[in-house]
Amino acid sequence: MKIFIDSADLDEIKQAFEWGVADGVTTNPSLLKKAVEKRKEKGEKVDIKSYLAEILKVAKGTPVSLEVTKTDAKGMAEQGRKLFKMFNPVANNVYIKIPVNPAFKEDDKTHFDGIEAIRELSKEKIPVNCTLIFTPEQALLAAKAGAKFLSPFAGRIDDLIRTNAGGKFDKTEYYPMEGKEEKGDTLGDNGVVSGIDLVRQCVQIIEQYRFESEVLAASLRNPRQVRESALVGAHIATLPFEVIKDMLKHPKTYEGMDSFTKDIVPEYEEL
Ligand code: G3P
Repeated sequence: MKIFIDSADLDEIKQAFEWGVADGVTTNPSLLKKAVEKRKEKGEKVDIKSYLAEILKVAKGTPVSLEVTKTDAKGMAEQGRKLFKMFNPVANNVYIKIPVNPAFKEDDKTHFDGIEAIRELSKEKIPVNCTLIFTPEQALLAAKAGAKFLSPFAGRIDDLIRTNAGGKFDKTEYYPMEGKEEKGDTLGDNGVVSGIDLVRQCVQIIEQYRFESEVLAASLRNPRQVRESALVGAHIATLPFEVIKDMLKHPKTYEGMDSFTKDIVPEYEEL
């Protein structure tokens, strides 16, 4: 499974690539806002064009997703083309992120605008990462329209299921991939019992029909979700920097380090 870093923070991206654990980068408007505000707080001026170009160079030819901000088919396609033309020459690694459905509510008329924009850009060989996927059928339509990456949002599906079930939860808290039983029924969202179950169903459809698209598990908030994304065959998982760091932690590792270090004989240390 490839690991992308889900961040627009240049320092985090640099570190993940230096460690050799990153195979790409995903950004979105919220991540970019966070990164830009962090720099501004430090009194730095941010020239967004050169900042993004720096990210593309650090990513060394691995995919970097840049998201559109327009919400109609024509606008998204035009903006996608513009971003691709502006940034792809830097390191030949730009993917344009398009929402599967840019509608804000049920009675909006833009439900197919994401698919239309994906189709347009894909026909022009501009690679698309289709984002905000919450059902396997959204993934299926995006794959048919030509999206290279399909991004199901695992953590946010867990949030939805946990919210509907009532009660408080911490967003980073693990939610079981097989779902939870309540009064004899498994909690879920229209047959999806957890975020990882959503990833699993997307992978099954994509593999079964041999689509070229890759399933990119997104909105992952803890190491166990990363493990389960790999177990269900996600092609890619995009991870916040904190989750990458948490993946290495275990109390028995610290304990082992402590006892091995205490046992070092000087003769061995001096070799
Ligand atoms: O990859 C999508 C991601 O940035 C959203 O994550 O934790 O806000 O649901 P989250």
